[in-house]
Amino acid sequence: PVPLLEWYRVNRRILPWREDPWPYRVWVSEIMLQQTRVEAVLPYYERFLRELPDISALAAAPEEQLLKLWEGLGYYSRVRNLQKAAQVVCEQYGGELPSDYEAVKALPGIGEYTAGAICSIAFGLPTPAVDGNVLRVLSRVLESHEDILKQSVKKHFEELLRETMPKERTSAFTQGMIEIGAIVCVPNGKPKCEECPLESLCLAERHGLLDSIPYKAPKKPRKIEEKTVLLICSSKKAAIRKRPDQGLLASLYEFPNTDHYLTADEVREYLEKEQGVTVESVEPLGNAKHIFSHVEWHMNGYLVQTDQIPRQYLAVERQELQNRYAIPNAFQAYYQKLMEVLA
Ligand code: ADE
Ligand code: SF4
Repeated sequence: PVPLLEWYRVNRRILPWREDPWPYRVWVSEIMLQQTRVEAVLPYYERFLRELPDISALAAAPEEQLLKLWEGLGYYSRVRNLQKAAQVVCEQYGGELPSDYEAVKALPGIGEYTAGAICSIAFGLPTPAVDGNVLRVLSRVLESHEDILKQSVKKHFEELLRETMPKERTSAFTQGMIEIGAIVCVPNGKPKCEECPLESLCLAERHGLLDSIPYKAPKKPRKIEEKTVLLICSSKKAAIRKRPDQGLLASLYEFPNTDHYLTADEVREYLEKEQGVTVESVEPLGNAKHIFSHVEWHMNGYLVQTDQIPRQYLAVERQELQNRYAIPNAFQAYYQKLMEVLA
């Protein structure tokens, strides 16, 4: 597949993990890119590597620093597993990733795709890496009408790549396939087939089937949870609390919230009767929505001024909120407002 490698050499985007592809850098990039677009990852990536420049620094980082470095990227179990894996690498492999597919895949947070990507990009091993980009490209090239989320489809594509991959150019091959999926055979909108190095092979393009491939079976709808989010403020401090250490957004900090909608009067009553503070004002902040993979939060927010922060919460200033505590993106709509109030 010379056209693919040549296409990649000429057309690839210059990205920090590509210019200096040592294993730790490739590993961090692949974990960040798992559910997040390249443009969103870039600023996080540079900062993460500056603060935690090697595997032993990552293994030793305090949880708060780790979550703060990930704040806004979402899917926080990725960074917890990254650290667990770094600790294993320090204990078992002297702080260097082993150049071995099975050993890499056995680390926390590393599945078949990520192990294949790290090993082919950083170690030159002929290990296939099939992510969503590659599923889209290959299902079109092969005119496969099967559900791309099926494990059997992934297995089939892995075998195909394993046979096709040039053993001396595994890094450019893996990244070339990913890159076609990212910038040519794009996920939203019309693929740019006239620029694609695979066009002469591509059956879906030849047969005009780009609207129906890739095929995904319909998913069951997400559960909807209704919440009231409270920005409780008292003399330039705000209330936050730590989430439980298991489950959705584990161990991150959040604004107090209830698991149903409250009216302004109910908010006042709840804080005065159940939390024993005096409410000075309640200002509605409107609705916001956040979509997780299996749940949607439909939120209703209020800014509440009180005479004191209820004792069960942490009372924090603007600076601490910015520099110390990681608040997940789900609260973004209200976070901005709070920053203004605390300024
Ligand atoms: N998405 C997943 N891996 C990637 C990589 N190495 N470069 C660009 N986008 C990616
Ligand atoms: Fe995708 Fe078009 Fe290339 Fe086929 S020819 S892989 S549809 S961009």
